[in-house]
Amino acid sequence: MERTFLMVKPDGVQRNMIGEIVARFEKKGFHLVGAKLMQISPELAGEHYGEHKERPFFGELVDFITSGPVFAMVWEGENVISTARLMMGATNPKESAPGTIRGDFAVTVGKNIIHGSDSPESAVREIGLFFKEEELISYAKDS
Ligand code: CMP
Repeated sequence: MERTFLMVKPDGVQRNMIGEIVARFEKKGFHLVGAKLMQISPELAGEHYGEHKERPFFGELVDFITSGPVFAMVWEGENVISTARLMMGATNPKESAPGTIRGDFAVTVGKNIIHGSDSPESAVREIGLFFKEEELISYAKDS
């Protein structure tokens, strides 16, 4: 069964949106197989966002993601990687459709509430950065 890494960013945690976000994915039919509230170190932020190292906003990105606790999660289900991206909406909330998480709750591209893996390769890499295999528990009857 496919797995993806999703993370409520510091703005979402600060705005008490963990429950709203978890509820959306649960109601969709996906299964939460691992989760933790955590403070990201600058080192982990640098690794997680390694592909953006050369971007002008990299410093801002690391400062923001380390500015307060995040809620890191692993979700499981059929096509969960691409479906979660659709449910999150476009990266820039200016372009994200109403009904999506960013479309409903975010205004700026920096503070866009949630991160989600964009491919199977990213999912494996990001899950490995944030979780040990023994922290993940599959329990769905259909998986
Ligand atoms: P995320 O899916 O976490 O992956 C990379 C992040 O970079 C993205 O969400 C945005 O929050 C952030 N990002 C993209 N473009 C910009 C920008 N121009 N300024 C600040 N942050 C950005």
